[in-house]
Amino acid sequence: MALPFYGKKSILKLCEVYCGQKLPNIMCGIIGYIGHRQALPVVIKGLKRLEYRGYDSAGVALLETNNLKVYKKKGKVASLEEELIGKSLEGHIGIGHTRWATHGEPSDRNAHPHVSASGQLAMIHNGIIENYTSIKAELTQKGYSFKSDTDTEVLLNFIEEIKINNDCPLEEALRIALKRIVGAYCILLIDQNDPETILAARKGSPLVIGIGKGEHFLASDATPIIEYTKEVVYVNDYQIAIIKKDELVLKNLGNERQTPFITKLDMELAAIEKGGYEHFMLKEIFEQPTTINDCLRGRIHPQEGLITMGGVEAYIKNLKEAKRIIIVACGTSWHAGLIAEYLLEEYCRIPVEVEYASEFRYRNPVIHKGDVIIAISQSGETADTLVALENAKEKGALIFGVVNAVGSSISRMSHAGAYTHSGPEIGVASTKAFTGQLAILIMITLKLARALNTISTSDYKQLLQELADIPEKVARILENTDPIKAVAEKYKDASDFLFLGRGYNFPVALEGALKLKEISYIHAEGYPAAEMKHGPIALVDENLPVVFVATKDRYYEKIVSNVQEIKARKGKVICIVTEGDNIIPSMADDVLFVPDAPEALGPILSVIPLQLLSYYIGTARGLDVDKPRNLAKSVTVE
Ligand code: AGP
Repeated sequence: MALPFYGKKSILKLCEVYCGQKLPNIMCGIIGYIGHRQALPVVIKGLKRLEYRGYDSAGVALLETNNLKVYKKKGKVASLEEELIGKSLEGHIGIGHTRWATHGEPSDRNAHPHVSASGQLAMIHNGIIENYTSIKAELTQKGYSFKSDTDTEVLLNFIEEIKINNDCPLEEALRIALKRIVGAYCILLIDQNDPETILAARKGSPLVIGIGKGEHFLASDATPIIEYTKEVVYVNDYQIAIIKKDELVLKNLGNERQTPFITKLDMELAAIEKGGYEHFMLKEIFEQPTTINDCLRGRIHPQEGLITMGGVEAYIKNLKEAKRIIIVACGTSWHAGLIAEYLLEEYCRIPVEVEYASEFRYRNPVIHKGDVIIAISQSGETADTLVALENAKEKGALIFGVVNAVGSSISRMSHAGAYTHSGPEIGVASTKAFTGQLAILIMITLKLARALNTISTSDYKQLLQELADIPEKVARILENTDPIKAVAEKYKDASDFLFLGRGYNFPVALEGALKLKEISYIHAEGYPAAEMKHGPIALVDENLPVVFVATKDRYYEKIVSNVQEIKARKGKVICIVTEGDNIIPSMADDVLFVPDAPEALGPILSVIPLQLLSYYIGTARGLDVDKPRNLAKSVTVE
C-alpha cells in the first residue's frame, strides 16, 4: 500500500513496512562494499561518514581470493587507520564497523568485525541479540569459547554451528539462525570460502544498499553512498540480501524472493561535507536560513493565503475530528513537540499531550481509535519513538510523522507525514532539524486552524507572511555572531547554567539547556521562569549564569520581574531580547538581540543564539562538538 509522506520534492512513495516487534538497541555504523574497486578506501571513507553514529571502536574485514583479513581498534576511525599502516590491505570485498558500546566495554577485543571459531567467517552487527546468553550457553556446552563479551560473536558462532551441523550453505544457516534469535540486527557476513558474496540481514536496525555499475555499497544510512550512486534500496525488516558485484537478491526468512524497491536519493555530496566550516554543527547552524527556506518553499503561498501539505490534506478529516493530539518524541524533537502543544492548543483549540517516547511506550497509555499521534524525529530511527508509534498504531491511532531522514523507519511506518528537508544533519547536537521541525509544526497548525476556522483570516494571513520572512531574520542573526562569542568566552568556565523562559520561550529554554549540556558537558537546566520561586531560585548566586529567553510577548512584564528576582540574588543574567528592547538590556549583564516576530514564530529565532552559545562554549573548552562524549546521532538504543 502506497503511503502519502510528502516532501514537496518527494521522489517516491514507500511501501509500508509494519514490524510490530521489540526494537533494537545499539547505534553503530555499518558499511560494506563489493565490486571492482579496492574495498578499503571505500570502507574507511564510509566509516568516517558514519562515525557520528558511534565512536567507541572501529574495524574492517577484507576478502580477496579466499584470504580473509580482519583489523580492529578501540577508539575513532583515525586509530584504526594507524593500525592499518604496513598491513596487507587488498580486497574487493570489505565490511567495516564503527561502534557505540552496549555489550562489552570499548576495547580491541570487543570491536567488530568478529571472526568465527573456524576463522572462516567475519561479521559486523548493529543491534542487540536479547537471547544471546541462552545461545551462548548452548554453544559453550558444544565446546565453543569466546574471544569477546559481545552478543555478535555469539550469533556468528551460532550461524557457523548450524552451517556445520546441517551441512548447509551459509545463506541457509543464516536464515535458520535468524529465526531463532530475539532482538534487533543489521548484520553483514562474509565467508573466506566465498569471495564473491556479502550476506546481509535486517530487523529493526537500518540498512541501505547502493546500486552501482558492477558494484554495491551497503550502509546504515545513505550518507556514505551518495558520492558513488543515487540509486538505493532500503532493506526492510526480516529481509536477507545476497549481494554480488553484479547482482542483488532480496529474500524473506521464508526463502521467498522479494522485489528490491529502488529509490533515487535526493541529496548532494556537498550536503555531507563541512563546506569550509570547522565543524558540522557550525555549518548546520549557518545553513538554517536555507534549510528553513527549503522547508517552506513549495508549501506556503502567502499571496494566495495557502499552505499545501499533501500529508495533512490526505488526513485533514482525521485531524479536524481528533479529540486530542498526542505528540511523541525524544530529546530536541520533544522540545519541538512542546512548542507544538502551545501552537495547536492556541490556534486549533485541540487538546495536546506531549509524551517522552521512552515513557509513553511502557506506560501502556490509553489510546482510542482515531487518536492522532504526531511523531517528531530527525533521524526517523529513534528506537523508543519507533516502538511507541507501533504500539499506538496497533491500537488504531493515526500516525503523522515529522521526520528529516528520507526513507527512515518512522517515515515508512507512518500513515502520513511531512519531511523537514533540513538535509543530512551530521553534528550530533540537533540544530537545523529543530528549526525545520518548528516550521513544519507551524504550517500544520495554521493549515488545520484554517480548516477548523479557529483562526481569523487576518491572523492567518499575517502569520503566513511572517513565516515567509523568518529565513531572512535568521540570516540577520547569523550576520554578526561576535556578541554571542563574547558571552561564551565570559562564561565558558561556569560549572552550572540555568535557562528560563515563559510560554513559547519555555521549551526554547529547555532546548538551550540541552544544547549546552550536550556540547560543553556543563550542567544546565531549563525552567519556566515563574517556577523559580518554587525552589530552583535557591541555586542563584554570583557564580550562576542565568539565561533568559525574554523576547517581546504577552509574558514580557512578567519576565522583567523574573529578571529582577535573579538580579536581586546577584545572579549573572544573560538575556535573549527583541531588537529595540531598551528595558531588559538596562538590567541584564549581557544581552543578545533577535529580530521581532509574532510570539508563535519567535522560537525559531530565539533558539539560534542558544545554539551558537553552546557551540562557542564547547569549542572554547576544546571539546569535539561534532562528536560529544557518550552521545550518538541516532539513538536506536532503549
Ligand atoms: C539533540 O541534540 C540530540 N541529538 C538528541 O536529544 C535527539 O534530539 C534525540 O535523540 C531525538 O533524536 P531524533 O530526533 O532523531 O528522534
